[in-house]
Amino acid sequence: MKITPFLAVATIALSGAAHSDEMEYMPPVTHAATLEECSACHMVYPAGFLPPQSWKVMMGTLDDHFGEDAGLYGETRAEIEAYLVANAGRDRSKGSAVPLRISDLPWFRHEHEEEVSKRQFEKAKSWANCNACHKQAEQGIFEDD
Ligand code: HEC
Ligand code: HEC
Repeated sequence: MKITPFLAVATIALSGAAHSDEMEYMPPVTHAATLEECSACHMVYPAGFLPPQSWKVMMGTLDDHFGEDAGLYGETRAEIEAYLVANAGRDRSKGSAVPLRISDLPWFRHEHEEEVSKRQFEKAKSWANCNACHKQAEQGIFEDD
């Protein structure tokens, strides 16, 4: 046995820390207008993956949304923004800029680095394509499968 008591304790402490920040399950969107308007080009991302200010900025700039015009106006836009903000997560960006991509967040890079094979990524084509790899992403399930 090469595991010293100190290392064993450290391992338990680390897995405990990871556990307190679990994102294996992130409640899926249930709001009708969001499901309707945000599903045309990609899966509907759970609101809890981005903090409130991200959704506010994103919903204010839909006419230039990652190079696409996802323009929405009036009541529908306001209703979707209110839903996303009310169900937003905490700020995990660890930076000053407002994050617009889940896939740019530090925890995301940490969880995916060295976990994904080149072939798996080539199949998915983009990190934004969560459901290419997480088969139950639309049910909010992102754990190991
Ligand atoms: C006209 C197509 C279109 C519509 C409609 C659309 N999006 Fe997008 N969205 C995109 C594209 C393109 C990307 C970038 C995808 C990529 O990098 O592969 C994107 C990326 C995103 C990302 C970042 C994903 C990541 O990399 O972490 C979020 C969050 C997002 N969209 C939210 C929304 C929301 C909320 C709505 C509804 C209000 C919406 N989108 C509607 C085209 C669209
Ligand atoms: C190319 C494949 C791929 C894509 C695309 C991808 N993931 Fe992952 N993801 C993985 C793998 C592999 C892991 C590590 C093993 C696991 O936990 O499933 C992982 C881990 C995770 C975890 C940690 C789960 C846990 O067990 O704590 C979360 C949360 C997550 N991904 C969310 C997302 C979200 C949200 C998107 C889209 C914005 C996404 N992933 C896109 C492959 C991918």
